[in-house]
Amino acid sequence: MAMISRDSVDKVKDAADMVEVVSAHTELKQQGQRFSGLCPFHDERTPSFSVNATDKLYYCFGCEASGDLFRFVQEQEGLSFPEAVEWLAERYGVELEREAEDPRAEQARKRRTRLYDLLARTSEFYASFLRDSPKASKAREYLAERGLDREVLAEFGVGFAPSAWNQVRDQAQRAGYSIEELRSAGLVQKSEKEGSMYDRFRARIIFPVRDPRGRVVGFGARGMAADSKPKYLNSPEGDLYRKSETLYGIDIARGPIAKAGRAIVVEGYTDVLALHQAGIREAVAVMGTAITPEQLKILGSLAKTIVLALDADRAGTDAMIRAQRVAGDRGVELRVAAMPEGVDPAEMAQAGELERFSELVEGAIDLPTFRVRTVLSRSDLASGTGREAALTELAPVLSVMGEVVGRDDLIREVANRLDTDPSLVSARVNSAPLEPPPRADATQRDQGEPMIPQAAALTPRELKERALFEMAIARPEEGARVLGRLTDDHLSPSGRRVAAWLREHLSAPTEGLPHDDQDFSSLIARLVMAADDQPYSEGAMELNFMLLERQRLEDGISAAREAGDHEESARLSRERAELAERITHADAGLRSS
Ligand code: UTP
Ligand code: MN
Repeated sequence: MAMISRDSVDKVKDAADMVEVVSAHTELKQQGQRFSGLCPFHDERTPSFSVNATDKLYYCFGCEASGDLFRFVQEQEGLSFPEAVEWLAERYGVELEREAEDPRAEQARKRRTRLYDLLARTSEFYASFLRDSPKASKAREYLAERGLDREVLAEFGVGFAPSAWNQVRDQAQRAGYSIEELRSAGLVQKSEKEGSMYDRFRARIIFPVRDPRGRVVGFGARGMAADSKPKYLNSPEGDLYRKSETLYGIDIARGPIAKAGRAIVVEGYTDVLALHQAGIREAVAVMGTAITPEQLKILGSLAKTIVLALDADRAGTDAMIRAQRVAGDRGVELRVAAMPEGVDPAEMAQAGELERFSELVEGAIDLPTFRVRTVLSRSDLASGTGREAALTELAPVLSVMGEVVGRDDLIREVANRLDTDPSLVSARVNSAPLEPPPRADATQRDQGEPMIPQAAALTPRELKERALFEMAIARPEEGARVLGRLTDDHLSPSGRRVAAWLREHLSAPTEGLPHDDQDFSSLIARLVMAADDQPYSEGAMELNFMLLERQRLEDGISAAREAGDHEESARLSRERAELAERITHADAGLRSS
């Protein structure tokens, strides 16, 4: 379908009633200009969700979910942006105009639709083959023996691929699909000898992998013999199937995850099936690799707590701890429920020990604590060299945590176990070598290693500039003046973008935001919502500006020193000293007023 025109999008936004849209998901009470209620994005008892009916924005002070009308519908209804526009247009009687689509884009979209259809019908074929074919009786027995019942198999669309070489290929070709399409969907592969194409999945149990909207994007296929090689044959990476961006079971678990405010992440397909069958509906699987930032993002948009019920040695890596800091920014906490060695949730279920699994999940601990305790438990704390080695290993772990809550407790715990003074541990942590910058290259991805999220915790500079932006939005007239004085040297990269945007759109910052950049749009929405609460005074605004100015001077001083330009560095230092005095003065003035 062709692109919806910008004009139509604006009409839909004007016509829609934000309060009504949100009220379908949570009860709102009016308080002045604002409406508030329990957050529909996470589980809570006291309302921290706030709606601005005029600008059609929402923001949760608890989980930091934020955005505009369209984002709300996208998230709550699981729709893409154009789908959300259509959904609202239908409800509010707006007729949509469409712009002529670029023929190339149209072709690409049609092709994708055909691939989705091909995967959906093939998945349905595998499922019916498992259900009905005499040739699948062994597979049915195998699954029954593993304790999986018909309902859960049907819900997840589990199937069986016939042992024939060409059945899927021939059926699809009869239905009008080309060999090229079959190959792109990952359903056929080339034979080495003859170069002809034959079915990729044969005589295997099929687990369809679906996206959050329930569309099949690929398959995992388990051989039934104990020595099948490989044990699981998966769809190849392609346009539709990207393992690092997919979570098995997410289409079914997303509702329960949002309700419970918690996701449980397990290793494999059968773990998910067994847990769902037992009524633990918040379970999804990472399919045998470490959790990726993309997967964290999906789960983080649904729940505040993510419990990793994974192999112990996979759960506590440095990369995970850095991921935790990123997740922490979004108000998401990663916790670890370490599985006993060599036992997975599916096996616990079969042994009737899910009680134990639930206890592990309830008792999950935060990642840094988990990591610290793991190191302590395998260190030789009886000897001096053992304690020294443990400290060397732990210092960077604690350092990478940053100044988070609970770090001091951990430092005390470590000092206690090492029989030394907390200040000594602190000193080691503070001088711990900085870790090499994360690599997010292809090799790492191929090995299924966790990739490092790009974002980092808010820097002091970002905190200051955000406060300043909020004030500028609250007082556009004064705001325009201060934005005019800000240069790129004052700002972080994201701050530069925000400043550029606000200079043009200060009177209505959320109008015309780019819909293909949700992080940016969401940041602007958050600033606009927070602007209402930002106490404004001319003095406070000026003080914030000066703090950014000091940052700019400090950067300048470092750069001058590095370049060996002593004159410049001395000049900037004098400026900084003057500024420091003015800051002290302004700060004192603000406090006394
Ligand atoms: P496991 O080997 O633990 O398999 O791999 P499992 O899920 O417990 O399967 P069952 O219960 O023995 O049948 C965990 C996950 O790793 C991925 C799969 O997603 C699997 O569910 N995996 C494993 C592969 O992709 N390929 C393999 O060869 C093995
Ligand atoms: Mn397993």
